[in-house]
Amino acid sequence: MLGILVSGRGSNLEAVLGAGIGVALVISNRPAVRALEVASEHGVPWMVMRRAGSGGAVARDTAIGEALTDAGVELAVLAGYDQMLGPAYFEAFRGRTLNIHPSLLPAHGGPGMMGLAVHRAVLAAGDAESGATIHEVTAELDGGPILAQSRVPVLAGDDVDTLAARVLIEEHRLLVATLQRLLASGGERAPAGDPC
Ligand code: GRF
Repeated sequence: MLGILVSGRGSNLEAVLGAGIGVALVISNRPAVRALEVASEHGVPWMVMRRAGSGGAVARDTAIGEALTDAGVELAVLAGYDQMLGPAYFEAFRGRTLNIHPSLLPAHGGPGMMGLAVHRAVLAAGDAESGATIHEVTAELDGGPILAQSRVPVLAGDDVDTLAARVLIEEHRLLVATLQRLLASGGERAPAGDPC
């Protein structure tokens, strides 16, 4: 079963659930976000696990790993989750956590490369194409082994919003296809990655 970590809008979560892929648990680090409404609408259990409310980052990361394990989660997916997970989390889920990122990594990843900042960087660089990447999560931000990528053109006249919208469509398609492929092959486990 999958567990999905979110922080906001939840459109990738919605794509996964809309495709009929089973999700055992959704965890958010923020309360009252749209992603939690999406989980509720699909009858998926969810929890809010905030750093402040759970005794600091180590305690929170331990609790996230335990909650996923208790829910029977074998593979976790960060779908718009905007906090770094530390060693306490990876003790439980090393090699079993994926992230979706809205660029063609390794381009435009790393510190500060979140949300529209990614698309702004693509436009500023004059790149001819962008896309989505699914990779294993390791201790290096956006640096784990890449499982799948999908490309879109950057068009003349694009602004961050038009580019973000084009990439987001590909994110949804790529995430669903990649998870379906992993689940069909019994591979609810990402390839072993770098030690965290
Ligand atoms: C997506 O662009 C994803 O690639 C990035 O954060 C965004 C989350 O969007 N990591 P949503 O919450 O799934 O709508």
